[in-house]
Amino acid sequence: MRLLNRTAGRLSRHRRGPLAGLVVLLLGLLISGSLYTALAPAQADTQASETEQVAHGKKLFLASCAFCHGKNGEGIPTVRDGYQIGPPLAGVGAAAVDFQVGTGRMPLTQPGQQAPRKPVVFSQEEIDALAAYVASLGPGPAIPDESDYSIEGLSEEERQEAISRGGQIFLTNCTACHNFNGAGGAMPRGGYAPNLHDVEGKHIYEALLTGPQQMPNFSNGNLTPEEKRDVIAYLGSIRETPEYAGFTLGGLGPVSEGLFAWVVGIGGLVVGSVWIASHTTRSKKSKVNA
Ligand code: HEC
Ligand code: HEC
Repeated sequence: MRLLNRTAGRLSRHRRGPLAGLVVLLLGLLISGSLYTALAPAQADTQASETEQVAHGKKLFLASCAFCHGKNGEGIPTVRDGYQIGPPLAGVGAAAVDFQVGTGRMPLTQPGQQAPRKPVVFSQEEIDALAAYVASLGPGPAIPDESDYSIEGLSEEERQEAISRGGQIFLTNCTACHNFNGAGGAMPRGGYAPNLHDVEGKHIYEALLTGPQQMPNFSNGNLTPEEKRDVIAYLGSIRETPEYAGFTLGGLGPVSEGLFAWVVGIGGLVVGSVWIASHTTRSKKSKVNA
């Protein structure tokens, strides 16, 4: 402690002297040096963790996917029971893996007309690793970022506009297969277009990018990222106001309507009773005074 005081004293005594400049220079070097050592290995670390992720993904792939898609994702063209065992995956992209595995379609358990949605068997971290591995086989659509499909950042008015634009886009591009309200429908050759009411925004975006099975793919050239977001906003609005559950009270959604009733209704009662109470006491007092 005494030593510190003494150095501090010495520093302040020399602050204006010729040594001060040197001390500042040395301090500067020290700081930039430690900043460099702090940042440089961090870059190397992310590279290392990316290759680790791909390696982890490859291990999972060999264990759960390779017997249908081939050891290197090259696909197995053999047809068994009338179905191809597994298509090649080079170039399908991380988005296809996140969609197929994230909705439980993959790993397929039995060959059939159409891979159905099932409980998801991998954690999101494992799905990311599988996606990174498949993406390393060839360039393809990446997993979209939440900012691509979320309307959280928009004002209420912009949201309403996005939803109505999305409704139009849905009507022209999707109703033929998914029905006018997204409830789904049968497809030729025994397939079906699924109900879209409970599909996450990310998976809708990925389905559009990758066109699973008999669904066409809507690349960003066909349907701009903003139009995709609008369709997702529209499907989200259907989910929040299920028409089959009776009347919808103007379509604001049960939570916001409940909140509105609570705040305005109860709040109004409280304000009203306070007002009445204060006025009656005042009028009583004024009567007493009179
Ligand atoms: C029992 C065989 C089988 C297994 C196991 C399997 N798949 Fe598949 N996979 C298929 C078949 C068949 C298709 C094509 C039919 C379809 O798309 O529904 C397919 C399609 C896919 C697609 C879509 C390709 C495209 O063109 O968009 C991806 C991605 C995929 N599989 C990834 C995986 C991953 C990752 C695993 C392991 C976790 C896996 N699959 C396990 C048989 C299998
Ligand atoms: C030609 C018919 C067709 C059209 C048009 C079509 N889809 Fe699909 N869609 C399908 C089929 C079939 C599937 C099921 C694919 C599968 O299970 O592998 C599907 C699957 C989906 C899924 C995945 C649902 C789930 O359960 O995981 C989403 C989301 C989706 N479609 C959204 C759309 C949207 C939005 C549009 C319009 C922009 C659209 N589709 C246009 C046929 C179609």
